[in-house]
Amino acid sequence: MNAPIGVIDSGVGGLTVVRELRKYLPNEPIIYIGDDARCPYGPRPSEEVFQFTMDMVKSLANMGIKMLVIACNTATAIALEEVRRQFDFPVIGVIQPGARAAVKTSLTGEIAVLGTLGTINSKAYDQAIHLLQPDATVHSLACPEFVPIVERGEYRSPAARATVDQTLQPLHASSFDTVILGCTHYPLLQEHIEEHFHQQKQIISSAVETVVDVERILHDQNKLSIVAEEPIFYTTGSIEKFKSIVEDWLHISRPDVRTITF
Ligand code: DGL
Repeated sequence: MNAPIGVIDSGVGGLTVVRELRKYLPNEPIIYIGDDARCPYGPRPSEEVFQFTMDMVKSLANMGIKMLVIACNTATAIALEEVRRQFDFPVIGVIQPGARAAVKTSLTGEIAVLGTLGTINSKAYDQAIHLLQPDATVHSLACPEFVPIVERGEYRSPAARATVDQTLQPLHASSFDTVILGCTHYPLLQEHIEEHFHQQKQIISSAVETVVDVERILHDQNKLSIVAEEPIFYTTGSIEKFKSIVEDWLHISRPDVRTITF
């Protein structure tokens, strides 16, 4: 069935999930909405994140999507259950897949979670990890400086590396072998994060595991697409900035990026 998969994020972070979708399910049409104009969601009150998430989901519902990926940890933590209740297409978030991948990977059961203030305060990862492994130890750290760097497209800069080094300092007192990038923007900083830990930690981004869930659901519902199409991207922010990150991160030349307002 050639209806698109809807993907949402507060900005460009969900492109890290789109990259894996395109790799493993190249025939799936994708419609993406990034709410860059109102990014970051992380420091906002839950009611606001919920409302902004619903704005994006309603628009995608009107465009006729066959399933929705909430490719934003903050929105997943706050809105996943309610979105599932209100819409009749399948909806998946990124927290459960990320927790599952980390528990599978960690040998010591000691896991660090990096996320936005909203995600860390929600304790959604602690709950998801403990459901899978009740005796796991979780060290959580909010990294509020990371998302603005990525949204500005400065993730390759030396300043980004310095911010990563400074932000991750508090984790040095803890022992863990696995780190969850609990924000979809963070894989764009992954090289810096890996270098910070001297390549000694397993780094988990939920994107790959999320795509495993997408594939299973579409397969079970007999809704996998067979004809390849290029994705359509909508942003509430700057088309030029969004385009340059799509070109850099997804290697799509002249991507179809459009404006959306709510
Ligand atoms: N990419 C988002 C996440 O996964 C949100 C970042 C933000 O808007 O603060 O949490």
